[in-house]
Amino acid sequence: MTAHATPHPAGHTASAAAGRPLMTASGVEKSYRRGIWPARHAQAVLKGANLELLPGEVVGLVGENGSGKSTLMKVLFGELAPDAGTVEHVGRLGYCPQEPVVYERLTCDEHFELFGHAYRMNPADEHTSRRRLYETLGFTRYAGTRADQLSGGTLSKLNLGLALLADPEVLLLDEPYAGFDFDTYLRFWDLVAERRAAGRSVLIISHFVVDEHRFDRIVQLHDGTTHDRPPHDRPSE
Ligand SMILES: Nc1ncnc2c1ncn2[C@@H]1O[C@H](COP(=O)(O)OP(=O)(O)OP(=O)(O)O)[C@@H](O)[C@H]1O
Ligand SMILES: [Mg+2]
Repeated sequence: MTAHATPHPAGHTASAAAGRPLMTASGVEKSYRRGIWPARHAQAVLKGANLELLPGEVVGLVGENGSGKSTLMKVLFGELAPDAGTVEHVGRLGYCPQEPVVYERLTCDEHFELFGHAYRMNPADEHTSRRRLYETLGFTRYAGTRADQLSGGTLSKLNLGLALLADPEVLLLDEPYAGFDFDTYLRFWDLVAERRAAGRSVLIISHFVVDEHRFDRIVQLHDGTTHDRPPHDRPSE
């Protein structure tokens, strides 16, 4: 369950940060070791990646397949330890992994309950947040359905809902909307806009050039390092 969030000490809020970054990563390096001796070798994926997320910022993380976007996000969340560099954040983290991490035999309701406990939410707040997420993402009718019986798109909604449940200061989303129908996709961007307005930070890994105008800033990962890139102009509609 820690794949989706970490609890945090009380008292750290976005407003307390007052314009200071909610997340800062500096000089992140990460290699994967492959093969078995004597053919064992290390593949350097991140070679000094830097990233800063300010309150109210929606940042896109782009790069070609295999460039290390998911690896960087796992390091930011704390699922992977970097070989070098530092990651600091203020407040709570929500993480929506590229491959949903769910318990096959639990229903959507049971997932929310479990994650609510992990976040140390009080049950009334958890219920309110859960109901709102069901409604916004449009999967109320699957509340009692087991995860192994959900469609791919609904599983993605659950994955995203669990990351959002505790209203985290920093939300890390790894290709969150690939399986969404068009209405859900639009509602997803409404949710993101709400977080921006509330002074939260959102980092989204995306491959869709058509979405680039929705980001405040775009960071490109190339050859293991991060580069700032201005969003493309809004496409003509
Ligand atoms: N657990 C692992 N063990 C070994 N190598 C890995 C592991 N995870 C990722 N890699 C390798 O690290 C590189 C970066 O992978 P990563 O998943 O971070 O890329 P990505 O940018 O998210 O790609 P995509 O756009 O396809 O999701 C790839 O070459 C991949 O094969
Ligand atoms: Mg990836």
